[in-house]
Amino acid sequence: MKICNIHAVYFSPTGKTKEVVKTIAREIARVSDIQYYEYDFTLPDNRDKPVSFSEDDLVIFGTPVYAGRVPNKILPEIQRLFTGNNALAVPIVTFGNRSYDNALIELRNVLETNGFHTIAGGAFVAEHSFTDKLAKGRPRDGDLSTIRCFASAVSRKIEKMKTIPGPIAVRGTEPIPTYYQPLGRDGKPAVFLKAKPKVHDTCTLCGTCARVCPVGSIRLPDQETDHWRVEGICIKCQACIKQCPAHAIYFDDPAFLSHIAMLEENYSRPAENEVFL
Ligand SMILES: Cc1cc2nc3c(=O)[nH]c(=O)nc-3n(C[C@H](O)[C@H](O)[C@H](O)COP(=O)(O)O)c2cc1C
Repeated sequence: MKICNIHAVYFSPTGKTKEVVKTIAREIARVSDIQYYEYDFTLPDNRDKPVSFSEDDLVIFGTPVYAGRVPNKILPEIQRLFTGNNALAVPIVTFGNRSYDNALIELRNVLETNGFHTIAGGAFVAEHSFTDKLAKGRPRDGDLSTIRCFASAVSRKIEKMKTIPGPIAVRGTEPIPTYYQPLGRDGKPAVFLKAKPKVHDTCTLCGTCARVCPVGSIRLPDQETDHWRVEGICIKCQACIKQCPAHAIYFDDPAFLSHIAMLEENYSRPAENEVFL
């Protein structure tokens, strides 16, 4: 089978999914000598119009794992925005050393429903957005070699393909169970849905946080009596915290901090990348 274009398509608040998806797509573009395109739908402005592909396209489609699934605020956006029109696709998830649970199978199913044909899939370990104590610095060199080998294998698979196969078999449970329930250090459910970040007075009001928030929820003061605030939802993605030049943003919600401590205590062993071909 011949494809003409490869597209790296991703939602990636802290950059790890972007790194993995781009590495795969660039490697396939290199070995197959095809045109490379990129579509980053992390920011609300890039989720305003639908995106269609065609049977000449291969789409490497990535999201992070949130609570064991595709991020729940982004799932409807994926369903609404992307149409395959028989494009080939490779669902990719990145996860922070705990587990990807049912995120990959969920992403595969959404892509299939939207008219893509999934021909491979991968779940790759990446430093956890909540803490650098989990999978610190990953994907590292060994991971990147695995990722490039996977890309070459996808390329070979497409070359050999005579007909479109059924959806790629990936690990996961169907029907897809509910989201992973975060726990605290005491083993009890940690409820932090409503937690929002705060700022230290070292904040310079540069506006970076507002520009990088994937749900457009951060407001800067527009008059002296006003103050920095999060309006509406916070998906805890950590984009504002990681990209604040003054390191002024933080969470102090006790349940959220207890969950992070629990993860650090229980999920420090190196998790494995998994690929499906
Ligand atoms: C809200 C939230 C929930 C997460 N849930 C999980 C999870 O269930 N399992 C896991 O291993 N990692 C989890 N992670 C870690 C991310 O999947 C991981 O850090 C991912 O690579 C981040 O991608 P990005 O850099 O593209 O934003 C979670 C991260 C966030 C922000």
